[in-house]
Amino acid sequence: MDNSQTLLEVRNLRKYFPLTKGLLRKVVGTVKAVDDVSFTISRGETLGLVGESGCGKTTVAKSILRAVQPTAGEILFGDEGGTVDLTRLEKEALKNARRNIQMIFQDPFSSLNPRQRVRDIIGEPLYVNGVAKGKALEARVSELMAAVGLRPEYMIRYPHAFSGGQRQRIGVARALALNPKLIICDEPVSALDVSIQAQILNLLKDLQDGFGLTYLFISHDLGVVQHISDRVAVMYLGRLVEIAPTQALFKRPQHPYTEALLSASPKPHPKYRGRARIITGEVPDPSSHQAAGCAFYPRCNYRKPQCAEQPPALRNAACSGVHQAACHFAGELTLAGI
Ligand SMILES: Nc1ncnc2c1ncn2[C@@H]1O[C@H](COP(=O)(O)OP(=O)(O)OP(=O)(O)O)[C@@H](O)[C@H]1O
Ligand code: SF4
Ligand SMILES: [Mg+2]
Repeated sequence: MDNSQTLLEVRNLRKYFPLTKGLLRKVVGTVKAVDDVSFTISRGETLGLVGESGCGKTTVAKSILRAVQPTAGEILFGDEGGTVDLTRLEKEALKNARRNIQMIFQDPFSSLNPRQRVRDIIGEPLYVNGVAKGKALEARVSELMAAVGLRPEYMIRYPHAFSGGQRQRIGVARALALNPKLIICDEPVSALDVSIQAQILNLLKDLQDGFGLTYLFISHDLGVVQHISDRVAVMYLGRLVEIAPTQALFKRPQHPYTEALLSASPKPHPKYRGRARIITGEVPDPSSHQAAGCAFYPRCNYRKPQCAEQPPALRNAACSGVHQAACHFAGELTLAGI
């Protein structure tokens, strides 16, 4: 990696799944779940990742964690000993690198084992990695519970004794156990009541400041992403279509899809109500998208004939160089932000 401030650099990541049909699972095509995605995340930064259901957000996360093996590309991670390519690591080296990358999941109800006590749920990574056991493990679990706002004496309880918000705190404590550098949050507040969402988001921010954490924050909720992210990346059908600092992306989107997402998201302020523009055109399907031209072409309000023929590359959309969009007319269109 060129810059020592960069913690993670994803280069030309692709993950294709075979598309199967029928009982015999005959392969009838390919799902390009992630298709040539590149981005970086700096140390201490939060990068938001947004897009409609099925656009490939979780597949990006799973590729970074090597829960799925990428089809192509590099995932460079700034480890203690230098930079490693996560896509190429073998057993022991991968296990070591994984200690630095943890995940927080959407559903705090199904992601915690109901038959394990909280002490064992939070302490498991410590035990499995040989970091602590016995009294030392309990002491560390107490510390972690306090850090996420849970009473340490509750460590002997089972998950069902906790509310949704408290369960997500348990998930956060477990993710923190091994002092990771990067935490991937995949829709961490989507299953929670709105009143609880803000508490968890504020907790994540406080922990980031306290422990110097870096986040990849996945959500379909633009309000949540705006609240927590330094920069935001927008995905459409497996590709990045726009990436920019949060305020720039929300105020001056440079890709028609981002404009459509912003106009379709619920507005808290009455001034904006009624302006929602539904994204028209056919529902995207990663398995049927043909490579020629712009993937957003069928639904785009600004399309021109050339868009159907040439695929737009991600390029600078403003002179700053930090705002990029994959549209032939990026920087030329006047798009509505919020
Ligand atoms: N193991 C798999 N086998 C086949 N196809 C898969 C697999 N995992 C994901 N896909 C497909 O890849 C595409 C991207 O899925 P992914 O779960 O990454 O999307 P997402 O953006 O996280 O969606 P959501 O917002 O619903 O969580 C979808 O079309 C999905 O059906
Ligand atoms: S390249 Fe053309 S079709 Fe694609 S988003 Fe831009 S204007 Fe729309
Ligand atoms: Mg997902």
